[in-house]
Amino acid sequence: MKTFTTRRSLQQYLQQIKTLNKTIGFVPTLGALHQGHLSLIEFAQQQNDVIVCSIFVNPSQFNDPKDLEKYPRTIEADIKMLEQVNCDILFNPEVNEMYDGNEQWHLNIGETEHLLEGEFRPGHYQGVTQVVNKLFGIVNPDTAYFGQKDYQQFLIISKMVNMLNMPVKLVMCPIKRETNGLAMSSRNIHLTPGDRQHALVLSKTLNWLSNNFNQNNIPALKKEAEQMINAEPGVELDYFEIADGDTLHPANDSTKSIVALVAAKVGKTRLIDNILLSPKS
Ligand code: PAF
Repeated sequence: MKTFTTRRSLQQYLQQIKTLNKTIGFVPTLGALHQGHLSLIEFAQQQNDVIVCSIFVNPSQFNDPKDLEKYPRTIEADIKMLEQVNCDILFNPEVNEMYDGNEQWHLNIGETEHLLEGEFRPGHYQGVTQVVNKLFGIVNPDTAYFGQKDYQQFLIISKMVNMLNMPVKLVMCPIKRETNGLAMSSRNIHLTPGDRQHALVLSKTLNWLSNNFNQNNIPALKKEAEQMINAEPGVELDYFEIADGDTLHPANDSTKSIVALVAAKVGKTRLIDNILLSPKS
């Protein structure tokens, strides 16, 4: 695997690849890689000639400085994992390589930015669009791969790509789960054994909802799901929403694309999860 830490050296290398008419698949990450990230690399490998993975803990998307400080950084283990799955290129820049001091960024992505995660992490999606815009500009990928776990992030990046006419195709890859159902996340590192048990209520509730979706109306299902999560010790619910998959507004019985999304603090760690639901029959 070739590793680059500067934009210029990566761009020069990728230009050569482009002249050979090879396609570039891109997997942007914050590092602390797990099987979920590796599954994105595998998807990318099936559809492209050359795979670039970026590892960059982007400060501008952390609204809480303590969260940024606490974010797991495991670069040596990450490199080993990328080598094991034959990733071709790693881009691992320092902060000053990506930002030159007093940069301003604001993209008007509409109200989706302020819903759900946006309400609990103000400014988060401005930071995400800022860095993904930069990364797309540097890597110029044919296709970029993101996990469904960050469903709202995927929706917002898709909006940006449409608004700015970016020549990149986006692919959303399914959530990778541990055998007990826990959605894989870099933040799971912080869970104590007890937290891990309590955290299962999130995926269990989403599965329960999926299995019972035709049994009741949406407001009643949402209330029951909230009660299930609130009954779990050590879990503090931020939101549980059964939403329109395009707008993230609450879904109703005639909504076509539906996603249930949850965010909760489990012990000291904030987790998110979601499930796509078939429209009511
Ligand atoms: O989902 C992530 O890992 C990050 O938000 C991303 C897309 C790499 C931007 O920093």
